[in-house]
Amino acid sequence: MRDQPAETLKNRFWTMNMNTINLNSASLDIDLGSGQPSQFHYVWLRDNCSCSDCTHPDTHERILVTSEIPDDLIALEANVDGDELAIIWSDENHQSRYSMDWLRSHNYSESAFNTDPAAADIQVWDKSLQGNIPTFDYQQIRSDDSVFLSWCEAVRDIGLTIIRNAPLEEGEIERFADYVAVVREVIYDRLHNVRATPGEYNAYNVASTTLELKPHTDMPNYNNPPGVQMFHFLVNESIGGESTAVDGFNIAAKLKHADPDAFQVLATTPVQFRMYSGRGDIIASNPLLTLDEQGEVKVFRFSNQLAQPANMAADKVEAFYRAYRKLGRLIEDHDNRVQFRLETGDIMVTNNLRVMHGRNSYDPSTGGRHLQLSYMDFCDVMSRIRMLKKQAA
Ligand code: OGA
Ligand code: ZN
Ligand code: ZN
Repeated sequence: MRDQPAETLKNRFWTMNMNTINLNSASLDIDLGSGQPSQFHYVWLRDNCSCSDCTHPDTHERILVTSEIPDDLIALEANVDGDELAIIWSDENHQSRYSMDWLRSHNYSESAFNTDPAAADIQVWDKSLQGNIPTFDYQQIRSDDSVFLSWCEAVRDIGLTIIRNAPLEEGEIERFADYVAVVREVIYDRLHNVRATPGEYNAYNVASTTLELKPHTDMPNYNNPPGVQMFHFLVNESIGGESTAVDGFNIAAKLKHADPDAFQVLATTPVQFRMYSGRGDIIASNPLLTLDEQGEVKVFRFSNQLAQPANMAADKVEAFYRAYRKLGRLIEDHDNRVQFRLETGDIMVTNNLRVMHGRNSYDPSTGGRHLQLSYMDFCDVMSRIRMLKKQAA
């Protein structure tokens, strides 16, 4: 049977239990109930065999070695048996079974499937978010998992949230990060103090002056910047220092609409960022816009203060600066930003791969201002969403 050429099997039909299976040379078509045939490739089906020789029954990891699937693999037989598709393969008569439900949820032939329980529902925003920033109570997040889940989902979908009434204890943000997921350490600090203390070791950073901080993402000088950033306001009593935020995905969409060439330039031109102190010197070069396979922005990086001298072929410089300044002007456009005052005891949480944050200048003679910052990785927060959903199921 192994030697049977694929051609002779082409267009053979089995009809059973209303399901018609059409065997082609490299794939089969099956109606999963929609009235339309769905196509599944032999190599794909074979690769996803769930028998205990192919998938470890306890860990659910693949044991089958994909590269060992023969190039000339075909289905010798395919039948619907109850609610399962049963296949006998040309590969040593190996037998596989797939439930119809599983095939329906992994049906890639019309469009990509998404089985991730933490799949995002991204909502881009502009200044109209002002007054509507998702806001939560610290104790409610800690005591009610449904509120905890809603907050995690708001971080994922909006990328900007406020938590009120957090304890006013130093180190609280680090403990909260460990409650949600794990702290993402960066070389400078695990817990970062932001206050204007002249001579303090972290004075390498404009944040520890009293100057305005233009909207930026933190740590674009890492190839993998921390995905979630949390700002705990231990004291915010001075005049000024209001927080600002801009949705980088909205800015990128506006730029793409207004000037697709500029968008393309920023998606393909690496920009070097650097941050250094006596404790470390971190440098990374990446485009400001990292795109996914669909051309959507996956990671947005922007930090005027950390960008290093542009380094590119001379004939690219003008187009780069034209695009870069267009992007910067969209970020500065107040129609695209929200501004709000955070109070002592508030925590602001941003998706740092998307949302820029900043603050107005402030006058330290009018009152204290002290923030503690911690980061988490985005994947770890998404993991928390899946765990909370599993727990609630
Ligand atoms: C920072 C920062 C904001 C603030 O430290 O990275 O952006 O409100 N701080 O001081
Ligand atoms: Zn198998
Ligand atoms: Zn910052």
